[in-house]
Amino acid sequence: MKHIRNFCIIAHIDHGKSTLADRLLEFTQTVSDRDMQAQLLDDMDLERERGITIKSHAIQMNFVYNDETYVLNLIDTPGHVDFSYEVSRAIAACEGALLVVDAAQGIEAQTISNLYLAIGHDLEIIPVLNKIDLPSALPEEVSDQIVDLIGCERDSIIRASAKAGIGINEILQAIVERIPAPKGDPQAPLQALIFDSVYNTFRGIEVLFRVYNGEIKKGDKVKFVNTKREYDADEIGVLKLKQEARDTISTGNVGYLISGIKEAREVKVGDTITHVTRSGPAIQGFENVKPMVFAGIYPVDTSEFEDLRAAMEKLQLNDAALIWEPETSAALGFGFRCGFLGMLHMEIVQERLEREFDMTVITTVPSVQFHAYTTKDEMTKVNAPSDMPEPNYIDHVEEPFVRAQMISKAEYIGPIIALCMDKRGILKNQVYLTTDRVELTFELPLAEIVFDFFDRLKTISRGYASLDYELIGFRPSHLVKLDILLNGEKVDALSAIVHRDKAYDWGKRLCEKLRELLPRQQFEIAIQAAIGTKVIARETVKALRKNVLAKCYGGDISRKRKLLEKQKKGKKRMRQVGNVEIPQEAFMAVLKLE
Ligand code: GTP
Repeated sequence: MKHIRNFCIIAHIDHGKSTLADRLLEFTQTVSDRDMQAQLLDDMDLERERGITIKSHAIQMNFVYNDETYVLNLIDTPGHVDFSYEVSRAIAACEGALLVVDAAQGIEAQTISNLYLAIGHDLEIIPVLNKIDLPSALPEEVSDQIVDLIGCERDSIIRASAKAGIGINEILQAIVERIPAPKGDPQAPLQALIFDSVYNTFRGIEVLFRVYNGEIKKGDKVKFVNTKREYDADEIGVLKLKQEARDTISTGNVGYLISGIKEAREVKVGDTITHVTRSGPAIQGFENVKPMVFAGIYPVDTSEFEDLRAAMEKLQLNDAALIWEPETSAALGFGFRCGFLGMLHMEIVQERLEREFDMTVITTVPSVQFHAYTTKDEMTKVNAPSDMPEPNYIDHVEEPFVRAQMISKAEYIGPIIALCMDKRGILKNQVYLTTDRVELTFELPLAEIVFDFFDRLKTISRGYASLDYELIGFRPSHLVKLDILLNGEKVDALSAIVHRDKAYDWGKRLCEKLRELLPRQQFEIAIQAAIGTKVIARETVKALRKNVLAKCYGGDISRKRKLLEKQKKGKKRMRQVGNVEIPQEAFMAVLKLE
């Protein structure tokens, strides 16, 4: 135990976490140069393209210090606000953290919230100023920020460049010197924290864990405390570049477990592994992660519903956070109502369906979960506008609120505050971190920030502002269901739940947007927005006079065919509702209302 160090890296997206991890692996010769690929830890294609570490992993390296060999376990953490619970569990598995800050960018909101998590778990923080090779680096200024933030000694900040390989040895030495060895009782009943699970097509689910007390041996009968399921520890081992099987994983160490588990859902991050006989108690802090954003996913081609179901089932094998159930829409037919951790998670699911399963899907307007009370204490969970009870049956509606932290340069706080006010925010706090950087704390309805909030924040702050938020509970709100009718027919997939004060404006702009997006057809299309039976806005798409072929007089048949084919292609993502054709963009138009 004396020679084990468990640590993670806390960094804002793009501050160089993956690059630094690569350097540490190289320096400790955990990987040979030949095996070295840029950004080794991001092994999904998609992750690499997006440059975001979506799923956390762990890797073990050996480092010789004063002639003694130390085992360093690096536990990777995801860097996006959608995945903050996983971050908290990874942090709980460590004694120390590298706080990596880009010397040209300074500290961002996400870094701070993860840093607070780490400090809350009593982790030893090693500050690293990365990218000091950049001409735009401001090492003195950013060092000030770090000192202000964590109250460390200025000379404890390690200056590094992950790209140029500067400061790597120093970082490894600091890990051994400053981070305490794990504590724990090898004789006590087994308690191991599950901090992640990884899906493997051939071997099923690999459970990643950190042993707090006791030890786990190959072949042991184990139990997951919260799910109460029992398994045989068929294989255990440590994660190097590849898995290396072991007979025992002892107190303080990190390892993997394979026991024929087929579905990610069975394994809950934050759960505790113990023995079936002589079992230990659950490790504190377990939570069932809940989806925050809901949307319908429908096949473009209705005959592909069963294929889509099969694809969703496969996706769920390695995405425990994704939930779904079948749903029918008058406009879109059979599909699924899905729950996601956030908008990024939703985009990832949609992209994986298209890439890995070759599905073309229509996604409906995302929504958060509302609570509609039909009496004082009878509550319906509203995950889709169609779940909303009729207006005269509603006592009141509650919506989820978040506490949001934003950090920005001082010059942008005016526009940021204006944006948050427009989004029904309540300013709670405003702190100058340095003379030039301000932290704003707002309480905001989740519904107002899940869509385009982050993009707008980035735009008005020229990319400087960063955002982090956490759910703080449900509050009563004046919400109404807004319906869209095309030629008098309600298009359920275009309904949305909006705040009463914004309903008129929303309805008007949505009608205008739809007028732009709906292709002209042989007849006039009336677009109406309504609350209940009351129409609040109306637009018209004029009828088309000529058909497309009218353009090609003369007998050029190939030209005609080309035009017809082009038309057919255009139809691919169209949906027929009543006699009106609706393109996919229309279903997402709501998101793009400025
Ligand atoms: P996520 O995986 O998205 O969280 O990002 P990350 O924090 O892992 O950042 P990553 O390692 O992918 O680095 C982001 C970008 O910064 C890449 O283009 C790197 O090449 C670059 N970068 C990383 N470290 C350094 C450095 O020390 N100096 C310079 N100049 N660039 C660096």
